[in-house]
Amino acid sequence: MTDVLFEITEEHLETGMRGYPVGLCTTSSVDPQKGLFYVGRPLSKLARRRPEEVIYLLYHGHEASEKELADFVADIQKRSVCSPKLLEHVRQLPREGHPMKVFCASILLMGMLEGTGDYREDCLNVIAKMPEVVACLINHHAGWGGTKPSKPELGYMENFAQMLNVPNADLAALTEVFTLFNVLHYDHGGGNLSCFTGKTIASGLEDMYGSLTGAMAALAGPRHGKANQNCLAFVQEVLEELGENATEQQVEQLIRERLAEGGLIYGFGHAVLRVEDPRATVLFEVAHEKYPNNPLVKIASLLRRAGEKVLGENPKISDPHVNVDAVSGTLLSAAGFPYPEYYTVLFGLSRVVGISIQIVYERLEARNGKGTPIIRPKYLYNGHAPA
Ligand code: MLT
Repeated sequence: MTDVLFEITEEHLETGMRGYPVGLCTTSSVDPQKGLFYVGRPLSKLARRRPEEVIYLLYHGHEASEKELADFVADIQKRSVCSPKLLEHVRQLPREGHPMKVFCASILLMGMLEGTGDYREDCLNVIAKMPEVVACLINHHAGWGGTKPSKPELGYMENFAQMLNVPNADLAALTEVFTLFNVLHYDHGGGNLSCFTGKTIASGLEDMYGSLTGAMAALAGPRHGKANQNCLAFVQEVLEELGENATEQQVEQLIRERLAEGGLIYGFGHAVLRVEDPRATVLFEVAHEKYPNNPLVKIASLLRRAGEKVLGENPKISDPHVNVDAVSGTLLSAAGFPYPEYYTVLFGLSRVVGISIQIVYERLEARNGKGTPIIRPKYLYNGHAPA
């Protein structure tokens, strides 16, 4: 007799499966009160570490020794070389529409041209090659010209930053913020929409690339990954309306008015968290340390305080705290990347790491190596009443 983990009653139907346990996750967990943990370690302890160290931790489930890390880095660098044919096809994709569409199409192309059919190999190859593919697709979509040759020896995010032709870039500032953003977004438990979608597709034994394409289509929605783009637009609107010397009272007033008109306040609340998102805490710390006078940073900080106050007054709002999106776009802009339509692509560049590792677990390790079965939940029939 196993323990009852969660009793499903009628009131749980059509609630987005919120809180239903459906499986095991070896990479990360999200505690409503304590936030995100990678392999049992609180995110705040890992946020400033090298991407390669954190990816190693997520992939292997333990910290790397010096030698293990050096071998892992060498392996990732070796795998990072994309074929000229793949990059050429990416550059031929249409530039119309949102760049997440180009991202999804690029992942399919990767699978068609470079997929091995082995989940573990493809997981490591995706992690290794993705920075060049994403740099290439952003340069192409933005009309920023050809992508500079990859130099993986510079480091995972250092190489990404140097390949992107961001106009008037301060490369050091950009690299620092890209690195932080990348590490913070790798994984968020097993049940976030993109990850669950990727694992669901893989449960039908679709390969890694098809599964990640579906996962990234899920990430592209405004309720999920695209919220970071929409959030920056909101901070910008508030800045335009109130100016950079706005007071907290003015911001509070604006929030109250928006809510009274039925408008949305972006960057607050989370499906799981009931405290401030620790990723937002880290990003705000860096924003205050590096860019305290940036007008967007000032407004995002006022929104953080005033929003929590106003939303916290409503007992129906279970999480009135800021989430990661409240400040990620603000910090990217402050560091010299004011291109919100690419923010969800940067989220995807990071999140494919966690999703592909979770797919490896579900396909090759779960249930003593048998893997999880095809996902097939039950829907209760509720036909139309007879006319
Ligand atoms: C996140 O990063 O916050 C997520 O992917 C959303 C979630 O956990 O449901």
